[in-house]
Amino acid sequence: MHNNQQQHQHLGIVDSLLMQMFGLPKGILGRLGGFILARTKHDFTQWVIDLLEIQPDEKVLEVGFGPGVGIEILATAVSTGYVAGVDYSQEMVEQARVRNEKAIETGLVQLQYGSVEKLPFANDTFDKALAINSMQVWLDAMVGLRSIWRVMKVGGKIALGFTPHSGQSSTGLTEMLTTAGFTEAHLVETDRGFCVLAIK
Ligand SMILES: C[S@@+](CC[C@H](N)C(=O)[O-])C[C@H]1O[C@@H](n2cnc3c(N)ncnc32)[C@H](O)[C@@H]1O
Repeated sequence: MHNNQQQHQHLGIVDSLLMQMFGLPKGILGRLGGFILARTKHDFTQWVIDLLEIQPDEKVLEVGFGPGVGIEILATAVSTGYVAGVDYSQEMVEQARVRNEKAIETGLVQLQYGSVEKLPFANDTFDKALAINSMQVWLDAMVGLRSIWRVMKVGGKIALGFTPHSGQSSTGLTEMLTTAGFTEAHLVETDRGFCVLAIK
């Protein structure tokens, strides 16, 4: 086998392992990926959530919540509102449910298995929405963004955050949000990563 072929095959295997661990966490590797994400992404997640300026009475949606660290932070920010989450990995829904058990019991948090393309919510439901290191692995980012737009209230704010090794480029992101129907799309950057914010 030629070196290039070997390299491509190797990259294919690495990509597929990374996908099982972090992209769409599945099985033992997925569970391990969830534990790693929970330990390493807290500060970045807090930064993105701070940008959203959540108010206590707001209804907030997180798509692709992974191990549920963001959900945990959001639950401390709302008191009369609530936090809903949708993730396309059964393993992550399970981990996030364990992490947020108490808030789920009180009804403050509701987590569901599902895909961003088919969000199980009525139009104009949420004041705020976010996704962190998730959009780059959606099957169709534009369909996903339009779906989030549909379930947000007019005037609601969206935040899409990405850390440096997420695989998502910041180029063209504000244009994508505008094409999906959002306004005032702008990019904010730190040494930990970047976030695009926009308004429905
Ligand atoms: C890299 S992980 C990020 C998890 C978490 N947001 C964090 O920052 O630690 C990507 C997450 O997006 C979820 N995901 C991938 N495709 C999705 C889709 N189409 N709809 C909803 N969630 C999706 C995965 O299951 C996974 O939990």
